[in-house]
Amino acid sequence: MSQSFEPRPELTAEDLVKSIFKYIGLIAHEHDVEKMLVILADMGRDLVAADRCTVWLIDERWGTLWTKVAHGVDRITIPVGVGIAGAAAENDEVIIINDAYSDPRFDKSVDKQTGYVTRNIIAIPFYDPAGKVIGVYQAINKMTRSGEFSEEDVEHLMLAATYTGKELSAVMMQQEIEKTQKEIIFTMAEAGEMRSKETGNHVKRVAEYSKLLALGYGLSEEEAEMLRMASPMHDIGKIAIPDSVLLKPGKLDADEWVIMKSHTEIGHRMLSHSERPILKTAAVVAYEHHEKWNGKGYPRGLKGDDIHIFGRITAIADVFDALGSDRVYKKAWDLDRILSLFKEEKGEHFDPGLIDVLFEELDKILEIRDKYRDNFEES
Ligand code: C2E
Ligand code: SIN
Ligand code: SIN
Ligand code: SIN
Ligand code: FE
Ligand code: FE
Repeated sequence: MSQSFEPRPELTAEDLVKSIFKYIGLIAHEHDVEKMLVILADMGRDLVAADRCTVWLIDERWGTLWTKVAHGVDRITIPVGVGIAGAAAENDEVIIINDAYSDPRFDKSVDKQTGYVTRNIIAIPFYDPAGKVIGVYQAINKMTRSGEFSEEDVEHLMLAATYTGKELSAVMMQQEIEKTQKEIIFTMAEAGEMRSKETGNHVKRVAEYSKLLALGYGLSEEEAEMLRMASPMHDIGKIAIPDSVLLKPGKLDADEWVIMKSHTEIGHRMLSHSERPILKTAAVVAYEHHEKWNGKGYPRGLKGDDIHIFGRITAIADVFDALGSDRVYKKAWDLDRILSLFKEEKGEHFDPGLIDVLFEELDKILEIRDKYRDNFEES
């Protein structure tokens, strides 16, 4: 089987070194597995002058290989054992084919559908640090004059595959750790809220309101996402407040109020020992969510911009939600009354710029409120 193609020039040693440095630089800053798959595939394609290169990852739950070929495109999935990449994964072997159509392992049906003509394929498994196959590096169609992959190409792609195994394992491990952290943080926050008999969705709503306000204010997606994860922890210090105060149906007396206000400092102390960015952010939020723009809040009486933006945002998210919910000490307010309070307190309790954002984003805020509405069954 032959196909005419426009041959590309052979790669010089200098080309190779340049492209390796370029891709290592790109990969070093990438923390997202899917984006990394695309970069690694581009690297392999350039290293061996292939037409296409794909980095497949094994999904053990389904017995499939999956990949992303470009940002924003859906995942592509194939069963392990099917096709050349599938065979390389299943049998843990390097497969080099320089005449695809005469090889029985090659499945011509894909080419038939796409009109693409596959001439040659290299498929190389790669491994996690424990030596388990986690994916396959696959290059298709050599694009220089020879039209065939050489031993050298295989060597280069093997080096790329070794590197890929290391980098992808590290990133997947990191993502797993971060996912676990987020779950633990969320569970802690829920546990804290359960003591004050606040229904489960309070922390979800505060998280989403906070992110929305952060984005509307102009913080980056990363900062907004960090705040979404951290803001549910704002009241974690309440776990140290005795039931007699926390669950008192009526107004607190002066001594009880002193105890209650300490939930900000307790939360800050609990969280500020950690080096983790999410917990450090949560520590700031716990400390500063009852500060007021006019300096009359607690525990430190900070004023204006001296209150961290995350504290100013969570203050609004928290009060918006507290007012709209039943508490042991009060009934829920209706929306008009809540909105008048925010207008009155603009520039007093709350950052005036953020109140503008609250009103600009009100439709979306109400959508969140609706989506995470508490169901009022008594338990
Ligand atoms: P929380 O119930 O989560 O309320 C958070 C914030 O929402 C309050 O912070 C306050 O700024 C606002 N908020 C809630 N309900 C009302 C209200 O009826 N009117 C007004 N104007 N604002 C309201 P704050 O005041 O610093 O209170 C902190 C926490 O102290 C509250 O968290 C709650 O756990 C407790 N707390 C406050 N007042 C009482 C009370 O009279 N009785 C009891 N048992 N606890 C109280
Ligand atoms: C195969 O691995 O058999 C198919 C390669 C392709 O065309 O993607
Ligand atoms: C803190 O003091 O805990 C946070 C720093 C800040 O106020 O921005
Ligand atoms: C931040 O962007 O995290 C802080 C900016 C501010 O305090 O306004
Ligand atoms: Fe609080
Ligand atoms: Fe709260």
